[in-house]
Amino acid sequence: MVDLNPAAAEAVVAEITQAGGKAIALAGDLRDDGFARGIVRETTRAFGALDFVWNHVGHPGPAAIEGLDWKDFELAMDLNVRTVLVTTEAALPELRARGGGALLYTASTSGLTGSQFSPVYNIAKFGIVGLVHGLSKRYARENIRVNAVCPGPVDTPMLRVFVARPDSQLPPGETPESLVQKRGGQVPMGRPARPEEVANAALFLISDEASYVTGVALPVDGGATA
Ligand SMILES: NC(=O)c1ccc[n+]([C@@H]2O[C@H](COP(=O)([O-])OP(=O)(O)OC[C@H]3O[C@@H](n4cnc5c(N)ncnc54)[C@H](O)[C@@H]3O)[C@@H](O)[C@H]2O)c1
Repeated sequence: MVDLNPAAAEAVVAEITQAGGKAIALAGDLRDDGFARGIVRETTRAFGALDFVWNHVGHPGPAAIEGLDWKDFELAMDLNVRTVLVTTEAALPELRARGGGALLYTASTSGLTGSQFSPVYNIAKFGIVGLVHGLSKRYARENIRVNAVCPGPVDTPMLRVFVARPDSQLPPGETPESLVQKRGGQVPMGRPARPEEVANAALFLISDEASYVTGVALPVDGGATA
């Protein structure tokens, strides 16, 4: 479990441990290439081998094109794209040593369809889906499967950022919660995803149950892109 916030990573480790699993918490900034490579090294050391990496970190990026905030652009490209390449590079020798494994990425429905208020996020997440298509072909003969989950709205802090767009301010009379409910209501299933529902799709894609599944960008979106 990797997070900038040590308490967040440790809380998830505690949940896993209580459920009888084994996990380690690695806290640090994924914009630091040394840390991003180190998570692969530390995980391999702790568990004896590497079976998969789930590259899940992301950032919404700026909402505007006119007056684009280039600092926010850089942060979004670093967190959605750059760090993912760094961990992928670090993981490949470990997966090879194991005779194969899985690389999983969190893209978005914004990696499959246009989002009028998230131009940079669109660039980044379409990029991740492209990466998945390319790497899946490149490493298929080495038994390294490469897939993405593409969530629609998920009930997390990031959704509060998305719903306040286009101008990143709440409309009069609205709260983040009222906007989250409205956004969820636009999905055919009528609600946002719970984080666990994304995790379950990820679990399938990294598991041996998906042994012939590679190059897939799986929508987990309550029917939004149907
Ligand atoms: N929430 C949604 O509606 C939604 C929809 C589609 C896709 N996604 C994608 O799902 C993934 C997870 O998003 P989320 O909704 O949980 O986001 P979030 O913003 O709610 O949580 C992001 C997490 O990343 C951590 N983080 C931030 N910067 C970091 C850094 N530099 N180094 C290490 N950790 C850092 C934060 O501490 C936080 O725990 C992202 O890739 C996002 O783009 C989210």
